[in-house]
Amino acid sequence: MFDDVVDFVRGIYGKEGVIPLHEPLFIGNEKKYINESIDSTYVSSVGKFVNILESRIAEYTGSKFVIATINGTSALHISLLLSNLSQEDEVITQPLTFIATCNAICYCGANPIFIDVDKETMGLSPDSLNLFLSEHAIVKNNRCLNKITGKVIKACIPMHTFGHSCRISEIKEICDKYKIVLIEDAAESLGSFYKNKHTGTFGQMGVLSFNGNKIITGGGGGCILTDDEILAKKARHLTTTAKVAHKWKYTHDMIGYNYRMPNINAALLVAQFERLENFLINKREIAMAYKGFFKDKSYRFVEEPANSQSNYWLNAIILKDKEERDLFLHETNLKGVTTRPIWTLMNELIMFQDCQSGELPNTEWLEQRVVNIPSSMVIK
Ligand SMILES: Cc1ncc(COP(=O)(O)O)c(C=O)c1O
Repeated sequence: MFDDVVDFVRGIYGKEGVIPLHEPLFIGNEKKYINESIDSTYVSSVGKFVNILESRIAEYTGSKFVIATINGTSALHISLLLSNLSQEDEVITQPLTFIATCNAICYCGANPIFIDVDKETMGLSPDSLNLFLSEHAIVKNNRCLNKITGKVIKACIPMHTFGHSCRISEIKEICDKYKIVLIEDAAESLGSFYKNKHTGTFGQMGVLSFNGNKIITGGGGGCILTDDEILAKKARHLTTTAKVAHKWKYTHDMIGYNYRMPNINAALLVAQFERLENFLINKREIAMAYKGFFKDKSYRFVEEPANSQSNYWLNAIILKDKEERDLFLHETNLKGVTTRPIWTLMNELIMFQDCQSGELPNTEWLEQRVVNIPSSMVIK
């Protein structure tokens, strides 16, 4: 079974052996810029490539300020700290996400609340968010109080799953109404837009990741996007160990974090960023090939949602049921085509089992059926 899928994937990638889910592609100035970084001796947290990267990302995304970090998780952590999140506060997110979203919430001592996703976008559902808040929350003194736990719901982190934008404008409207800080986990969605605005630029802060499996990579890396100058300054300070700027004195004025992106990673990223437009075209071509192939099959290829432009970072299909999904995973992996189920739901993990959740019918439906298929760029 599924030999047609295996043959089709092999046809795209034109190779024998194991076809990975996602590989980075280094065909530009990567080695040149890394050598430049080494020759300059600026390989660590100071150097020109970090600044170049920040300004290129600001220009591309339309975000006024960009702060480069060691990874997306640290960017999430700082974004949450700057929402004045304190111990015991609550943060709404989706159960269908990568663990980093919830880890960052817990690093601040806060608790996640899990709300359902949309079937179409696989991202946080504004309808479910609205329903949950209208039933369980009340705004008092400019704060959103959870009527069940008595705690403050301080922030909300929707995620743009696999590079498909969630209905972020509607989510923002609801967060504004309930005085909840919106932070976007756009780790997977560099190059994805909602209503022609880049993902990660709707909330108070947004976060990108440049992990090795993302559309462009610095080996590791991430960044914070924000239009708020004061928050940007604080983020820069916190991510650089809160060192007070001075020519020779070494003084720190608060507990900071060593989260600044090293220049050597930024060198790799600047080269990768030069190829982003080509990568996006390349990925769209692969997605369209899959779409054509899956058109006549009984399972659905996940396409970019309405009003958006996806980066098609990681392609996905939705199988009939869990049984068919498991068979698909078994057969394709056996035949050397790497496929993967979506994440185990956050609310089912041992650390989060006691967290509050809304009804999760779409999340549970998707978790049993969604499978990622090989999505690397194709060398031309
Ligand atoms: C949804 C999501 N959030 C956060 C992260 C964390 O990014 P990083 O691995 O750069 O820390 C990732 C990816 O790795 C991710 O996919």
